[in-house]
Amino acid sequence: KPPILVPDLAARLGLKPFNIMADLIKIGVFPAPNQPLEPDIAAKICEIHGFTFEREKRDKDKGFHKEVEVIKEPEAPKQEPEDLLKTRPPIVTIMGHVDHGKTSILDYFRKSKVVSGEAGGITQHIGAYQVIHNDQEITFLDTPGHAIFSDMRARGADITDIVIIVVAANDGIMPQTLEAIKHAKKAKKTIIVAINKCDLPSSNVDRVKSQLAENGLQTTDFGGDTEFAEVSALTGKNMEDLLELIALQAEVLELKANPKATARAAVIEARVVPGRGTTATVIVESGTLKVGTPFICGPYAGKVRSLINDRGAAIKSAHPGMPVEVIGFEELPNVGDHLTEMKSEREAKSLASERQEAQRLVRLKPQHRNRMEDLYSMV
Ligand code: GTP
Ligand code: MG
Repeated sequence: KPPILVPDLAARLGLKPFNIMADLIKIGVFPAPNQPLEPDIAAKICEIHGFTFEREKRDKDKGFHKEVEVIKEPEAPKQEPEDLLKTRPPIVTIMGHVDHGKTSILDYFRKSKVVSGEAGGITQHIGAYQVIHNDQEITFLDTPGHAIFSDMRARGADITDIVIIVVAANDGIMPQTLEAIKHAKKAKKTIIVAINKCDLPSSNVDRVKSQLAENGLQTTDFGGDTEFAEVSALTGKNMEDLLELIALQAEVLELKANPKATARAAVIEARVVPGRGTTATVIVESGTLKVGTPFICGPYAGKVRSLINDRGAAIKSAHPGMPVEVIGFEELPNVGDHLTEMKSEREAKSLASERQEAQRLVRLKPQHRNRMEDLYSMV
């Protein structure tokens, strides 16, 4: 380990050596010129200036980090008592190449006209909807085929239970299909394949299946374990089977949440709507989100002013697995952040201002670190 010398320490803290000497005298240490400091003494000096002293195993990672203290938000309990857990709806994300029929499939399930309402029929944003199948709720996230997955992941893949990969039987596997498969596998999600547009004369289901097998998704009829359905969102063919497959997989996963826990929800979309202000679509992960609930979401505080369900109706509360639009954010939240219920508005606000302050400090940190690193490379 290299010795800790006063000029180095001073430079790393953005001070002059005489400042450090003055501090040393104050704490009763009188080092001879060029005498290395003991680590605990260096730590004390760092502390005086609001830094944490750390010596790490690898020399090049050594650094001093500005201490950033943050009030903790209520944490999601790792394990909830079994009796408080209730079955929650599966969160199913529909992915696939542009125009392969993701929105049409969801549209068929919803028996509404989402597709025709979209600008140019291209999904511009993530849509979150619920479908009731045999008295069971299923939550669907529609995704744009052209979205890059990193963005998607922030938007919902980490809260996704099941991924539906949609492949148009006439087109076969395309670049975005591969992308979706790759990431769903990496994230270890349950995958169900919907081979769509089977009504078209140009459809070639066998070709799709062999392409799937080449990409590690061997369908059950070929001795693999990938569940699939040959569907047409246009005619409705086998669409009920697809829903049934989803329901079965959801049962296998035994998805549960505690509706009485502190409310927590993941932001999957946020925007400013004229007349409504800042709104965000969230999926409730645990607890029950109610109108009037104060919350923290990343660096921003808020209070639920109203909740709007996927059919555009105002509701009073949202249970686990439910997608809901929340109005009442102080600022536009970040997609991927989690909204967490706080005890009071005051607490939410004070945590928010601490976080904003912490962000400011973190932004300053790289400057310190660069300077420190330069110096250490000279030691
Ligand atoms: P993006 O959101 O842009 O990625 O597209 P998408 O995957 O959501 O596709 P969308 O549902 O918008 O459908 C694209 C086109 O395919 C539309 O013109 C649909 O009418 C058509 N389509 C969807 N499903 C079927 C189907 O089963 N059969 C036929 N023949 N056409 C379909
Ligand atoms: Mg779409």
